[in-house]
Amino acid sequence: MTISTNAAALAASASATRAIHAGQEPDPTTGAVVTPIYMTSTFKQDGVGGLRHGYDYSRSINPTRNSFDAQLASVEGAKYALSFASGLAAIDVLLRATVKPGDNILLGNDVYGGTYRLLSKVFVPWGVGLDVVDITDTAAVSAALDGKDYAYIWVETPSNPLLNITDIAATAAVAHAHGTKVVVDNTFASPVLQHPLDDGADVVVYSTTKYIGGHSDVVGGAVVLNDEEVRDQVAFLQNAAGAVPSPFDSWLEIRGLKTLDLRVRQHSRNALEVAQWLESLPSEVIERVWYPGLESHPGHEIAARQMHGGFGGMISVEIAAGFEAAKRVAGATQIFTLAESLGGVESLIEHPGAMTHASVAGTTLEVPANLLRLSVGLEDPQDLIADLKQAFQAI
Ligand SMILES: Cc1ncc(COP(=O)(O)O)c(C=O)c1O
Repeated sequence: MTISTNAAALAASASATRAIHAGQEPDPTTGAVVTPIYMTSTFKQDGVGGLRHGYDYSRSINPTRNSFDAQLASVEGAKYALSFASGLAAIDVLLRATVKPGDNILLGNDVYGGTYRLLSKVFVPWGVGLDVVDITDTAAVSAALDGKDYAYIWVETPSNPLLNITDIAATAAVAHAHGTKVVVDNTFASPVLQHPLDDGADVVVYSTTKYIGGHSDVVGGAVVLNDEEVRDQVAFLQNAAGAVPSPFDSWLEIRGLKTLDLRVRQHSRNALEVAQWLESLPSEVIERVWYPGLESHPGHEIAARQMHGGFGGMISVEIAAGFEAAKRVAGATQIFTLAESLGGVESLIEHPGAMTHASVAGTTLEVPANLLRLSVGLEDPQDLIADLKQAFQAI
């Protein structure tokens, strides 16, 4: 159930308005404008089975979590959102609820290392088949689907860490012609820039740890979709297995989502400025810049059509002098913090090969050893450029 009763009035409003109001009814008892943190594991029943508004136990249902779910679904323009204790918990429950041993998944060849680890080390031993394809190549996807039945195509666009761009609508058309469903991990774009369900995807997943939380202070995930049957399967397993976010986590996500629109547009502006500067550097310093907002990016045209209002805050660069030089740069920044994760207000730098994507070493998903990934925050972009400039002295 949802505690929001203002859905009809909000339906016609813009996403930025819905982010602030959807699911955010003033507290019925006190009128508190901000959804309270309902830090309770259980709820008093008025006689056995006499639940107040359906609330019985917080693994199953909690008002703060419901508030975030309603807010996120509304921002996405989707019927349903279910939030989880992490992005990987959301992915795990979606897949365990809807695939079985013998089913196959077709995975893009550049995805978050933890997603690959979950699929290859947990789902494959369970009996699920996993194949990897260049997901940006619709013809290659089509050929793979001609050869085998797949339950899902798994798309990250922009992908982590190479910022590859997949045409969601074209991929969904090919997939649906073969009876295959499309999941889009929309973590990098966020619901501000990209609406995969509108483009034909069947399910959207998020690590809400990133842009939606937005302040590097909460770990969370979500499954967002329109299909009621799949929603019920996911909700059943979520309750049966229990990977739910705490009320405080949900409250932090609510707070983050309210300012997502502003933040993501500024992240995108800052990242474009930093990416343009990086691209202007001599090729002896920077071998390649990966940012979908640059015209040199192979997916730029698709990204310009598919993403609305910016290209996101993530940039990857290949350091011409190689692995050791890349590691030295990552250790030499003073404003960019050397840390995993992304999407917070503070800029982060990391070495995917040794950090977030260590689990894809030796596979077809292995990332270049000289690659650094930047999560461009909300500092002044000129300060970020100055920081990178001084860090490049370490090369
Ligand atoms: C694109 C993407 N999807 C999923 C995840 C997993 O999310 P979490 O760390 O919240 O479990 C991450 C984490 O970095 C990610 O970058």
